[in-house]
Amino acid sequence: MRLLVTGGAGYIGSVVARRLLDEGHRVVVVDDLSSGFADAVPRGAEFVRGTMAEAARVLAGPRRFDGVVHLAARSLIDDSVRRPERYWRGNTVETLRLLDAMLAAGVERLVFSSTAATYGQPAEVPITESAPTAPTNPYGASKLAVDKALDDYTRAHPLGAVSLRYFNVAGSVGDCGERHEPETHVIPIALDVALGRRPEFSVYGDDYPTRDGTCVRDFIHVADIAEAHLAALRTVAPGEHRIYNLGNGQGFSVLEVLDAVARVTGRPVPSRAADRRPGDPPTLVAAGDLIRRELGWKPGRPDLAEMIEDAYRFHRARRG
Ligand SMILES: NC(=O)c1ccc[n+]([C@@H]2O[C@H](COP(=O)([O-])OP(=O)(O)OC[C@H]3O[C@@H](n4cnc5c(N)ncnc54)[C@H](O)[C@@H]3O)[C@@H](O)[C@H]2O)c1
Repeated sequence: MRLLVTGGAGYIGSVVARRLLDEGHRVVVVDDLSSGFADAVPRGAEFVRGTMAEAARVLAGPRRFDGVVHLAARSLIDDSVRRPERYWRGNTVETLRLLDAMLAAGVERLVFSSTAATYGQPAEVPITESAPTAPTNPYGASKLAVDKALDDYTRAHPLGAVSLRYFNVAGSVGDCGERHEPETHVIPIALDVALGRRPEFSVYGDDYPTRDGTCVRDFIHVADIAEAHLAALRTVAPGEHRIYNLGNGQGFSVLEVLDAVARVTGRPVPSRAADRRPGDPPTLVAAGDLIRRELGWKPGRPDLAEMIEDAYRFHRARRG
């Protein structure tokens, strides 16, 4: 297939684009480099720098695209609370612009990066796709708005969409890995602490109703995320919008992550207890039954230590 991959200069997008190329697809990456890096775009992909206006120009051009994989987004939760307009415009309005361009060009397949943040504080764990959606921040709300738009667009137009609601993505594949600036994700921060680049790790809340009092999160290997995109592209059908949670199905507490980072690196990870962050649910773990049943996908690399080893390899290669 010829595919447009938005956000392909970012962490997950570069891994997904690499995997699509390996599978024999032709890939054009559109990315404005607002949080991505031109050198992360995998070799073999054509790179166009720009926002969804540029993506629209590519889709309106002479080449016919079979599908779009839409990963481009802003995704800093705290920033979204301070500057919601960036998220409503960058994630929701930009995506609607992309959808207009897809409809105009007759592109019928979309795989969209949604998020566990659409659920907010879950009443039940593991979280199923039928759980109520009540995001606790503008980031989650801006993604949920797209999921809702996709329900309507796919009903009205010859468009099929799959929304993948990722939980906490981790690990690396080859030279594609996590390079967020600022870094807000647990594993790369813990690796920085282990390597002496940060003095200590702040554990936000140690009195949650969990097995050791710290938050429990579902970490999923980025290679597994890429496989799920392939499965979604194979099955996406016009007239349907399907939503799948994409997690490992296992929860790991913050202290368990720090412990695993210390074991993998052979270095201590000094930490200190800090106040809870408002809106942080105690436990977020995905129920994986639906995607397993309908797409035949299951996590191939569920081991936390393996995710951390891969992240560590990337981290050291990049930062010495
Ligand atoms: N990392 C996670 O754990 C996680 C969890 C849930 C969902 N997600 C979603 O996965 C997707 C990828 O996340 P990531 O962690 O790789 O982030 P990232 O910041 O590394 O990648 C996002 C990419 O999109 C580009 N971009 C942003 N806005 C753009 C726009 N308007 N036009 C063109 N390019 C734009 C950025 O330059 C960047 O390269 C995002 O949609 C994010 O919301 C990530």
